[in-house]
Amino acid sequence: MTAALSLLESRHSVRDYSLQPVSQEMVRSLQADLTMTCTHEAGLWFQMRTQDSDPFRGFLRSYGMFRNPTNYVACVIDPSYPDTIERAGYFAEQFVIKAVGMGLGTCFVGGTYSADHVNVPLRAGQRILMLVLFGVPAETPRALAGAISGLFKGKRKEPRWYFEGTDEEYADACRQFPWLETGLAGAACAPSWANGRPVRFAVKDGAVIARVDTKVEHNLIDLGIAKYNFAAAVGHGDWEWGNEAPFIP
Ligand SMILES: Cc1cc2nc3c(=O)[nH]c(=O)nc-3n(C[C@H](O)[C@H](O)[C@H](O)COP(=O)(O)O)c2cc1C
Repeated sequence: MTAALSLLESRHSVRDYSLQPVSQEMVRSLQADLTMTCTHEAGLWFQMRTQDSDPFRGFLRSYGMFRNPTNYVACVIDPSYPDTIERAGYFAEQFVIKAVGMGLGTCFVGGTYSADHVNVPLRAGQRILMLVLFGVPAETPRALAGAISGLFKGKRKEPRWYFEGTDEEYADACRQFPWLETGLAGAACAPSWANGRPVRFAVKDGAVIARVDTKVEHNLIDLGIAKYNFAAAVGHGDWEWGNEAPFIP
């Protein structure tokens, strides 16, 4: 297994954090990446807040979801630009994998926070799409952590599960695109809204494409996340943006 794939595999959603602050050095490095993303990606404005648990207050009491959530990135988009939801998913996952590489824990938060208590400015036309929580994970004994994440997650699917087509078509595709199985293995490690795993890959017009049912808005976030993981696992190539858009190896 490649180093990139094992990093993707090591990520899981962390809901229990230590009170220990994230080091200034890590915060600066993560912030530098976010600045780069916001400079290059029209319609995305990702804003980091540390030592601020306001958005989660009510939710701690009512659901007991997160423990000590104190650092987050507010993923702000201006949906008048193209593909902002999908691109937000892609670049949020890029942030997550960078944080995981530093030994931090992360969790996408789509619903269980109070948008009114997210302390970031919004300009006309902008809205908060989701938050990404990050921080030093609480020390949980390995066996217990495994049992808890097993409850949330269920087992990861095989790469083949993400490919739309017959076994014969899959075998053909793997011969034609030797990196396909690695890409699918990356996508299999991707987080998704309520673990819905809505993204599928297929071959269309001689290229590998990724698609979701676009009637559900948050499927587009998951599309961007899965595309990031696919490309990161393969280690070369780029996705075009959009549903059913091709991977250019
Ligand atoms: C867009 C998005 C929104 C999510 N929203 C929440 C949330 O509000 N609360 C939560 O506890 N987990 C949330 N999750 C985490 C998923 O439940 C989690 O990724 C999924 O169960 C797979 O588990 P894993 O991340 O440990 O692999 C969200 C994930 C994504 C991708």
